[in-house]
Amino acid sequence: MSAEMSRLFRHLTNGVYAIGVADGERCNVFTAAWVMQVSFQPPLLALSVNPGHHSYPLLRTGRAFAVSVLPSDQLDLARHFGTQSGRDIDKLAGVTWRAGATGAPILTAAVAYFDCQVVGDTEAGDHRLVIGRVVGGAVLAPESRPLIYAETDTLDGSTTLFPDAF
Ligand SMILES: Cc1cc2nc3c(=O)[nH]c(=O)nc-3n(C[C@H](O)[C@H](O)[C@H](O)COP(=O)(O)O)c2cc1C
Repeated sequence: MSAEMSRLFRHLTNGVYAIGVADGERCNVFTAAWVMQVSFQPPLLALSVNPGHHSYPLLRTGRAFAVSVLPSDQLDLARHFGTQSGRDIDKLAGVTWRAGATGAPILTAAVAYFDCQVVGDTEAGDHRLVIGRVVGGAVLAPESRPLIYAETDTLDGSTTLFPDAF
């Protein structure tokens, strides 16, 4: 059933993003599909993050995150940032990036990016729903097409993460 639910939920059309976080000393990036716009004025994004990730305490301390929109030909970056933890390796080594105004890392390979200041953080089941005020951003590669979550197949391991029944 978990695999069936995973197949069902892949019909929600999400992009694939590299979320940069920094706490003033350390920085890290993880892959996320659960990102969406939730307000025009002010411009707000919501991000759902597993609090067990290495990135979460960095995001909480730094009170910021940067969303780098991954291009369709960068499934390898989604795998790199999304299938190993910054607890074990320096995921930014060998990757070209720069710090945004908030200090959070932005990937040079991004189609576009959003630099966000955290304005809210609430429990959402086994994740935290973090709201970010967009304080900067730009389109870096207007000709590139963003990667779509369904194109990552079962890369996030979600076939084993859903419950056995609704
Ligand atoms: C395609 C894909 C989508 C993902 N989406 C999310 C997400 O929306 N939220 C989340 O907390 N983790 C998500 N993950 C899992 C994290 O990227 C992964 O657990 C990562 O290794 C955490 O890194 P960290 O421990 O360095 O923070 C996703 C992974 C993949 C491959």
